[in-house]
Amino acid sequence: MTQAGADTGTKKIEWARAHMPLLAALRADFLAEQPFAGKRLAMSIHLEAKTACLALLLRDGGAEVFLTGSNPLSTQDAIVEALQGEDRLTVNARRGASEEEYLDCLRRSLEAEPNLLLEDGGDMIALLLDEYPQASTSVLGATEETTTGVTRLRAWDKAGVLRFPVFAVNEAQMKHLIDNRYGTGQSVWDAILRTTNLLIAGKDVLIAGYGWCGRGLTLRASGLGARVSVTEVDPIKAVEAVMDGFAVAPLLEGIRHADFLITATGGRDLVTDETLQNAKDGLVIANASHFDLEIDRAALARFAVTDRLVRPGIREFRSRDGKCVYLLGEGNIVNLSAGDGHPVEIMDISFALQAMTLRYIADHAPISPGLYPVPDKVDAQVAQKKLDTLGIAIDRLTDAQRRYLGLQ
Ligand code: NAI
Repeated sequence: MTQAGADTGTKKIEWARAHMPLLAALRADFLAEQPFAGKRLAMSIHLEAKTACLALLLRDGGAEVFLTGSNPLSTQDAIVEALQGEDRLTVNARRGASEEEYLDCLRRSLEAEPNLLLEDGGDMIALLLDEYPQASTSVLGATEETTTGVTRLRAWDKAGVLRFPVFAVNEAQMKHLIDNRYGTGQSVWDAILRTTNLLIAGKDVLIAGYGWCGRGLTLRASGLGARVSVTEVDPIKAVEAVMDGFAVAPLLEGIRHADFLITATGGRDLVTDETLQNAKDGLVIANASHFDLEIDRAALARFAVTDRLVRPGIREFRSRDGKCVYLLGEGNIVNLSAGDGHPVEIMDISFALQAMTLRYIADHAPISPGLYPVPDKVDAQVAQKKLDTLGIAIDRLTDAQRRYLGLQ
């Protein structure tokens, strides 16, 4: 551990904390009420300054926290260093950890027999189900942050293997409407801009997937002056993209003129041998999804006769005939591997949802196993708290309006 690293981490945490008014309000409640007193909480999450603020909040609410990353390339070592020595908070993570080292960090959290899990992507719960089925009995409940994790949880729920309740925070309106759309929209472009220092205006940008993240990415690409195209597999989303003013085309057509490709499908196999054959010289590829599966590294290896880092975070692949494509952040979730993740105020909202949902679990345990939506009341409370911090008032329905709408 270096003192300079820890100081940088501490400053980043303090800056984030100063811009997270929802978490500050929750901290006052949690300090007074101690909703997690006596509970062990395992957190697997992209480990950076804002997540440190969430971990410290939950610790201040009484929990003993075991904190790991959810992707070795998104962990910020300065933050890990800054958290070392915190009371009732154990942190196990390292940027660039091997797959086995990363899994070992998760194992160490699970060996603490946690009562609550805060999950981002599903790796920790996958390990728990595979290797620690007995430990499941100590778990009162879990929350899942992202689309990819919820997809995996749905499959486990369907297979009947979940032994505790999991709340799909991603499905809350205040999560995907705000975080996936506006958070990803800003922070992915922030990472691309700071990594490449290239101009976006007048360029062709191709966004794969017009879901919540894709909508935010296209919106901001247009704002930067790009010509924006979309690839989709869902005809409804494709129509929506057309009506929003974007060109829609199959990937192998769109890629012919794209200067930038951003993958945001949460699926796999977007950048393949065929995609690379069709790509324009100079294509910059960035992945916005949770896992790196959209980019087939074996295909890139087949495509390239040379591969080298040309700038921090930019790998150039040059083919035999001299065509180059550039991969940002090694194909990992780009806003976290080549940036600081979502804007602070966005994570303030998402983490308020996380903290309030964990509190809901602690207050209502035992809850039957299965996958649950975040209670509407919690979603609405987070929205109201956000409006309060912005000093914005809204109207209320009159009795006559409520009767007319059939609400009473
Ligand atoms: P979503 O489910 O709303 O959107 C995905 C879209 O991709 C859908 O419209 C689907 O039809 C489309 N799609 C699927 N396969 C496709 C293919 N082969 N070609 C073209 N389109 C395809 O999901 P959302 O919320 O937009 O999340 C996408 C990914 O981003 C997930 O992995 C999620 O975990 C991740 N995520 C990343 C964030 C970040 O900070 N970078 C923040 C939030 C989510």
